[in-house]
Formats: sequence, structure tokens, C-alpha cells
Amino acid sequence: MKAILNQLDFELKRFDVKQNQITSVFIGGGTPSTIKPKLYEEFFDKLKNFLTADCEITIEANPNSATKEWLFGMANLGINRVSFGVQSFNDEKLKQLGRSHDKNQAIGAINNAQKVGIEHISCDLIYNAKNDTKELIENDIDIALSLPIDHISAYELTIEDGTNFKEKDKQENDELAFFVAQKITKNSFYQYEISNFGKYQCKHNIGYWNLENYIGIGAGAVGFLNNTRFYPTKDIDEFIKNPLNIKDEIISNNDLIFEKIFLGLRSKVGINKKILTPAQKDRANILVKNKKLNENDTHYFNKNFFISDEIALYITN
Ligand SMILES: C[S@@+](CC[C@H](N)C(=O)[O-])C[C@H]1O[C@@H](n2cnc3c(N)ncnc32)[C@H](O)[C@@H]1O
Repeated sequence: MKAILNQLDFELKRFDVKQNQITSVFIGGGTPSTIKPKLYEEFFDKLKNFLTADCEITIEANPNSATKEWLFGMANLGINRVSFGVQSFNDEKLKQLGRSHDKNQAIGAINNAQKVGIEHISCDLIYNAKNDTKELIENDIDIALSLPIDHISAYELTIEDGTNFKEKDKQENDELAFFVAQKITKNSFYQYEISNFGKYQCKHNIGYWNLENYIGIGAGAVGFLNNTRFYPTKDIDEFIKNPLNIKDEIISNNDLIFEKIFLGLRSKVGINKKILTPAQKDRANILVKNKKLNENDTHYFNKNFFISDEIALYITN
């Protein structure tokens, strides 16, 4: 936490942050619920004058370490949104995913978050893990919807390097992806991004998809300012020794435009017509005619997030 505060000082100057200018804070990880609220006090104290009055402050938590005391302590520090890494309410599947919590701990943590007065509560679910059935996923969503949450993130399991998961641990089933989206949206959780559904929409994540500037603090926490990305060291011991060991990368205008198109089509953000070349606009207009895209005076909007990558490649080709 000392190293975090050092880098925070540096970044607040680098981004020239003024009072009441920070609109959202997102504490992710690793597992933020393993750190006691007391250790976050100085961080929130240092930030408080820079936050807007309606600043959205999210923290990610694992049900097994997010005790009622921890949730109460974090709520007192200003946390107004908690995102629980539940993944499933099926104990067999939780073991298969190597999670350290069980169904009852997940339900308990979500109810405790409401009891301590945290306004926005989100639940992460993972689908298309091996052996996933429509029944299992439907049951996971039903339990989630029966709890005091206003947001669900439903992620298709992806196999990432450097993790314990192998291709054999996941399954291909696009039907299940569509089923998940239909089931959740039918219960008035609006789909505002390929994996995100909410009665409340997370300001912070929408900021990423809009390529807004953001400060990244911590080992491996990327930051972004105009056309430059900052990469603090991913090595936690190195970060503690030297939190300003940060590499930066200038992003070309073409790459920025591609990112805006790619992210805009995966979410409700859409694509600003101004960033497209005449040829790209012609292709987008063909998609509007074929009812694949909607448009208004300034933007094109995707109607089906599940084909966003194909549309991005078609427009930019
Ligand atoms: C992306 S963040 C969650 C952000 C949160 N949903 C929000 O709205 O603020 C962390 C989540 O990513 C998901 N995740 C982690 N590894 C994954 C993987 N290999 N495949 C799919 N989802 C994964 C898990 O659900 C984990 O809880």
C-alpha cells in the first residue's frame, strides 16, 4: 500500500488532476478483499479531494474473503459498488474452476453487502466451462437474480496463458452464449456490453470502452493518457521496491481508431462517425441498410454484440 501511495502521488501530477475531477475509481486485482480496510485509509484520504460528489467507487471481492466486517469497513471508506467474483452457485463447478468459496458464502457475501448499505452490487458468472449445461447456467442466473444485485457480468471462459486452465476445460457452445444474454435481459438487466448487463451500468467500464483517460496504480495496472499507455512492472516485489518503474508506449492514431471501433461495437458506446474514413463509412452504411447497425446523426451502434469482431473487421478492411 505504501508503494501504491507513492505511485498515486506521481500519477496525480502526471495527469495534472484537479479537485473534484475523478469520476470513478475501480479497485481490482488480484483479490482486494484480502487487504484489511485499515490499509486502504491513507489511499482514500489522499484521493478524497479529487473525487466528484457522485464518484462511482468499485471494489472487486471474493466471497470467501469479503466478510461482513470487511464490507462494512470498505463501505465506510466510500465504496459504493462491489463486484463479487462468484463465477457460479454450483459447488461442483466452483471446485472445477478452483474457486475457494462455495454457494452459501457467495449468497452470504452478496446479502451482507446490501446489509452494510453498499448501493450497487454486481455478480460475475462464468459460462462454457466444460460440463456446463443450460440447466446449470439457468440455475446460476436464477439464483443471481433472486439476490439484491443490480448488475451481472457473464463471461465466457477463455483459456489464458500462465493459468491452470487448458482448452479441455472449456466447451464451445454459442447457443449457451445467446441463452445467457436472453435470460438476463428478460429480467430487465439491460445488455450494455457483450458481457455486461445491468439495471445500473458501470461508469468506470464504460469509460474504458470510450477510451477515456485513466490512471493505473499498482503492479501491472495499465494507465492511459491521450495516446500514451503506461505499464507499471507486473512483478509485485519489483513494484514495491520501485513503483515508478513504468514503461510507456505511444499508440498510433490508426491503432487508437481501431480500438475505438472494436470497443464501440462490443458495447452500447458505438462508433463516432467522425473517426471513420469515407470508405469505412460506406461499409458502415451498407450494414445499416442490412439492419446490422443502427445510427443517429453522430454514431453507428451495433445491434448484436456477439458479431462485433466480424463487423469491426468488415468496416476496417
Ligand atoms: C473482469 S473483472 C470483473 C469486472 C466486474 N464484472 C465489473 O463489472 O466491475 C474479473 C472477472 O473476470 C472474469 N474472469 C477471470 N478470468 C477469466 C477467464 N479466464 N475467462 C473468463 N472470465 C474470466 C471473472 O468472472 C472475474 O471475476
